[in-house]
Amino acid sequence: MTNDIMKVLLSKEDIDTRVIELGKEISERFEGTEPLFIGILKGSFIFMADLIRNVNLKCSMDFMAVSSYGAGTTTSGAVKINKDLNEDIAGRHVIIVEDILDSGVTLSYLCGYLQNRKPASITLVTLLDKPARRKSPIKADFVGFEVPDEFVVGYGLDYAEKYRNLPFVGVLKPEIYSD
Ligand code: IMP
Ligand code: MG
Repeated sequence: MTNDIMKVLLSKEDIDTRVIELGKEISERFEGTEPLFIGILKGSFIFMADLIRNVNLKCSMDFMAVSSYGAGTTTSGAVKINKDLNEDIAGRHVIIVEDILDSGVTLSYLCGYLQNRKPASITLVTLLDKPARRKSPIKADFVGFEVPDEFVVGYGLDYAEKYRNLPFVGVLKPEIYSD
């Protein structure tokens, strides 16, 4: 599998160091509260697992699964909710955990969707940010790393459902995409 990688953008050590910092910053920001972390499946599952182990708060966790309605075929920016929350978020401090903020379409839809349920606040945490690709006006509150406009895999991020288990974030060899 690692033979398919052209270059490593973020090593395991880079990621570990940054995730520890993010955990500390979030713990400080939310001190004295019991926030609800919401991981967006599937891409965020590894980041979420590492992040919350660096958060020193009495927090709870839930997950949502979403997918975009056929990319490019709709201008509505709607996303399909494949798995909704089990927890009631009214009055809660909600922290959304994403793998990557790309066009921003998914997260802006999701924020609006969750806002209707009257949480006390919504905070966005993303491991990766690709600001060059933004279509929706959305900014994350906590960003692990800014990445260039390249398709990346690993540490939860996939290409055709593969490569999520790489311990680093990298770019695939061009021939892999043309298979
Ligand atoms: P957005 O609505 O365009 O911001 O979509 C973000 C979603 O697209 C992410 O949660 C990822 O699942 C996927 N995505 C965007 N860029 C990449 C990438 O470079 N590698 C893997 N998945 C990506
Ligand atoms: Mg995703």
